[in-house]
Amino acid sequence: MADGQTGGYENFRIVDREVILGVLASGRGSNLEAILEAIDQGWLRARVGVAISDQPEAYALARARRRGIPAITVLPGGFPSRRMFDAQIRRICEGHRVELVVLAGFMRILGEEFIHCYQGRIMNIHPSLLPGFPGRDAQRQAFDYGVKVAGCTVHFVDTGTDTGPIVLQAAVPVLEGDTPDTLAERILREEHRIYPEAISLYCQGRLQIEGRRVRIAPEQEGR
Ligand code: GRF
Repeated sequence: MADGQTGGYENFRIVDREVILGVLASGRGSNLEAILEAIDQGWLRARVGVAISDQPEAYALARARRRGIPAITVLPGGFPSRRMFDAQIRRICEGHRVELVVLAGFMRILGEEFIHCYQGRIMNIHPSLLPGFPGRDAQRQAFDYGVKVAGCTVHFVDTGTDTGPIVLQAAVPVLEGDTPDTLAERILREEHRIYPEAISLYCQGRLQIEGRRVRIAPEQEGR
């Protein structure tokens, strides 16, 4: 880019720093694993500071522990209200100096207070091409609808269900002979590719939310 031309990216604060992630997961944690692998491979400059689950048996917690990452269960039943459950998660995140909250198969809805507190700093992965098929069992919803192209979406979280500004998407064709399970498997492979990539863009300061749109600054030369 010629001198004096910023291409409209002057408001981006492009940096390369290690961002501390707080990963919230309720289940097997394959997305957490993909993030940890990207960190190990050195192209995702982040650190998982804490893994939190609402399910004590979540395999995600075991994956974190195996790597010496604090893995904490917060049981919703232990709190008189959702607000207090959220507040506990927030306390844990703050205690571990979490900058970006990463929802990776976390099966609870976080309340407005939590979301406002981490505005623009919470991401989620959803196994459909949003805005199609929000909510649970998205792969099956898409399959049953008869779509020819399914996929997955990484988005920032707002107070709606799977409605926040979209960071990255990947398309996955539905093949003859697919079942909801085979389709979900291929979607998951794409999830494992685009989630670490989206987090990396965040860590590099290359994402900017403008209304519904997330602008992605080009990679800087020499990186
Ligand atoms: C993924 O399909 C993700 O898109 C959805 O929940 C699932 C979590 O899988 N939000 P895993 O626990 O990361 O393996």
